[in-house]
Amino acid sequence: MRKIVYPVIMALGLYAPFMSVAQTTLHIDISNPRTDISSTMWGVFFEDINYGADGGLYAEMIKNRSFEFPQPLMGWKAFGNVSVKTDGPFGRNPHYVTLGAASHPHKHTGLENEGFFGVSFKQGETYRFSLYARAAAGSTGNLRVELADPATDSSDAIEASGKIVVESSEWKKYSITLTPEETVNNGVLRLFLEKPDNTAIDVEHISLFPVETWNNHENGLRKDLVRALYDLHPAVFRFPGGCIVEGTEMSDRYQWKNTVGPVENRPTIPNRWQYTFPHRLAPDYYQSGGLGFYEYFLLSEEIGAEPLPVLNVGMVCQYQNSADAHAAIDSLRPFIDDALDLIEFANGDTTTEWGSIRADMGHPAPFNLKYIAIGNEQWGAEYAEHLRPFVNELRASHPEIAIIGSAGPSPDGEEFDRLWNDMSKLKVDLVDEHYYKDEKWFLDNSTRYDSYSRKRPKVFAGEYACHVKGHEYNNYEGALAEAAFMTGLERNADVVRMATYAPLFANKNSWQWRPDLIWFDNFNVMTTDSYEVQRLFATNAGSHTLPLTISRDVGTGLVYNDSIYASAVVDKPTSTIIVKIVNVSDKNIPVTISLDNLSRKEIKDIQGTVMTQSSSITDGSLKTASLNPLNLTMDKIIKKGKLREMTLNCNARSFTVLKLRY
Ligand code: AHR
Repeated sequence: MRKIVYPVIMALGLYAPFMSVAQTTLHIDISNPRTDISSTMWGVFFEDINYGADGGLYAEMIKNRSFEFPQPLMGWKAFGNVSVKTDGPFGRNPHYVTLGAASHPHKHTGLENEGFFGVSFKQGETYRFSLYARAAAGSTGNLRVELADPATDSSDAIEASGKIVVESSEWKKYSITLTPEETVNNGVLRLFLEKPDNTAIDVEHISLFPVETWNNHENGLRKDLVRALYDLHPAVFRFPGGCIVEGTEMSDRYQWKNTVGPVENRPTIPNRWQYTFPHRLAPDYYQSGGLGFYEYFLLSEEIGAEPLPVLNVGMVCQYQNSADAHAAIDSLRPFIDDALDLIEFANGDTTTEWGSIRADMGHPAPFNLKYIAIGNEQWGAEYAEHLRPFVNELRASHPEIAIIGSAGPSPDGEEFDRLWNDMSKLKVDLVDEHYYKDEKWFLDNSTRYDSYSRKRPKVFAGEYACHVKGHEYNNYEGALAEAAFMTGLERNADVVRMATYAPLFANKNSWQWRPDLIWFDNFNVMTTDSYEVQRLFATNAGSHTLPLTISRDVGTGLVYNDSIYASAVVDKPTSTIIVKIVNVSDKNIPVTISLDNLSRKEIKDIQGTVMTQSSSITDGSLKTASLNPLNLTMDKIIKKGKLREMTLNCNARSFTVLKLRY
């Protein structure tokens, strides 16, 4: 039997598709931890796409709450004497509605909101309704608020109701709580003048939130969706995009300053995903700014992730515009100020202009921002030209902040090479690479970083997901290819310092992009196989890489193609060696793990998890993976009291995480 030793960069069988393999051995040199793994290695990328924010993570249940969509009553049904006015109390959201007195005792004046794919409420849960209102001078008006089920057969369609007495002719905030008697998925919120008073009332910023949000913040986020994020243990949180940072036009680019301060006065802007794909139009997709930069920083802190904001570099989306739509180089001042002021907003003390705004919003302590990305997927010589003044100013005034530049939308090619050169010359700290590719690309590219220059900026794999040919939703095969690819990121943790899967969320009722990590509707959260892969990496990140090589005994047995992908790390604080093995073939493969230079260390404990595809669930479901403990017994593995070598039968199409505590 011939023995061939490959560095692990040559995944098993890579150059020998018809070669027979009997035995695979992973040699792990545990005496020689190589590189520290960045504490930001595994994270997530959030963008308001697929109704990820409004209609998703942001727990507001009322669509177009400020009447600021171009058709001010979009999302609303008006009945009776309703008129829209534009001299409201909030300068950046000037519209409001007058509910005028009904003309007849048997008529009503009111509004009904359809919510995001229905106003969905649960029996026994408490919801906070609020609005701004004023009555005509000298009069008092009564508003009735209802949560109703328009589809019910029962004569009682009202599941919760309350009354608001508007006594003042000044704009004032009113709030009540509602507790429905039934659970309704496709409900509505109704608001109307109560008889017999029938006095005209002006209403603005009509809002409904569950009282129980994540950490019970009033302008809060959906608890179940944040929980799914929290359970992922993301080490870095990239926001708010993506393409929404660029905007289809300069005017609708994401501007963080419009998303902080009182929520009522954050301007509504169109979401570019409303019309990006003509086959997936979403005419009611707008950004309320309710989930803004303060909330993003707070969320990052509460899920234990480093915040990583992305700012506009003075350029619009290059897919949709010509070069003359960008800001001229000599008019970049406001864009650069946005970056400088953001650092002050996040880190400045409470005596600074922006630090005091953060404090007024409830967070006097700094958010400890360490990274900033300037530009999303930009390209051409103009990107470096735009970025240069940002880098110069940021380096001069904030050398403590790491700057991330972009390598554009493609992971290779002339433009990619040019961007890398430009970013190297500008000496940015990290370069953001994006790859939405098929499974072959992901497997082939598990060795991508083995040969990357160690002298250039570090890599941020800022957006990636395997788009399996012929499968539109997430599927197991894609998740496995992602895991194989991620072993390559991990082995090269000296050059790859962070990686964020994308996109993060998708609303099952209306999405623009798939696959996505977490799907949801108003009541449910559906995680995916890719989610499990991300979670397994993030919760087994380790502190240092360990050198790993693969050797194979080539026999005449079964035929395997590219099959085994692996990486090994040690987590020094917990004295744990963690080995990740991905078998992408449809055969079980015995893999021997040889712990070279084990010296005298004793293995105290062995645990493992293996992810396989559950046979009971058919392809096409969002989640088909099942995770089980590895069946290992110490006495089988340990020879003479010390472990040196062990053999695992790696299941067909599996991802194994093995943890050895020494
Ligand atoms: O993740 C979806 C989109 O893909 C992002 O907005 C953009 O950066 C990329 O093209």
